[in-house]
Amino acid sequence: MNITFKIFRFNPDENDKKPHYHSYEVKTSPGMTILDALNEIKWHQDGTLTYRRSCRSGICGSCAMKIHGINRLACETQIEKLKRKTIVVDPLPGFKVIKDLTVEMDSFFEHLERIKPYLINDNPPPARERIQFPDQFKPIEDPVACILCMSCTSSCPSFWTDPDYIGPAALYKAYRYIFDTRDEGAAERIEVLDNRHGLWRCHTIFNCMDACPKNLKITHGISKLKRKVLAEKY
Ligand code: F3S
Repeated sequence: MNITFKIFRFNPDENDKKPHYHSYEVKTSPGMTILDALNEIKWHQDGTLTYRRSCRSGICGSCAMKIHGINRLACETQIEKLKRKTIVVDPLPGFKVIKDLTVEMDSFFEHLERIKPYLINDNPPPARERIQFPDQFKPIEDPVACILCMSCTSSCPSFWTDPDYIGPAALYKAYRYIFDTRDEGAAERIEVLDNRHGLWRCHTIFNCMDACPKNLKITHGISKLKRKVLAEKY
């Protein structure tokens, strides 16, 4: 079946004054994904089209973009399941566009860095490993699966209105370490989160959960984090 892809184009280096949409026709086949279609366009119709991609398996998170109004991974989105003759593809909202479907990621990773996304434990390590039992791992099993694709932060209205807001991805990563039984950095992370651009900017809107391609329970994690901060500090 022939599908029309209406793709967001913008190239500031070529003096584009404002973004526009360009349409491409692609002959699709069963099982074909949005990433396959973008590759088809880039390799056979227009080599200037720019987007990120890498693993092609829903693991690296590089190809997150807004596909017909919803943030999704291009490599995991099958064209036939969208049931449309025309599919609109945009870059992730809320971030500065570098070119076409490629957005600037620095601010996202700066926010992530603020919550110290690594194990903090200054005690000398045991001879073999820091043991964690399955029931201790259970509460952090969900956030451990986050692939940092930026879909959640990009879909959050609180982030759209406050670019300093740390965002759901960083909050959920903070949750992942604060509730890790081997970690001892909860107090310093809570200091980073407990302010108007941190945890309290989340108004429980749930867009982040709807957008997550891994179906992670981000909003529930953020709410649990809020309860912990309230209990420990106030
Ligand atoms: Fe935003 Fe998710 Fe909170 S969409 S406001 S981070 S619940």
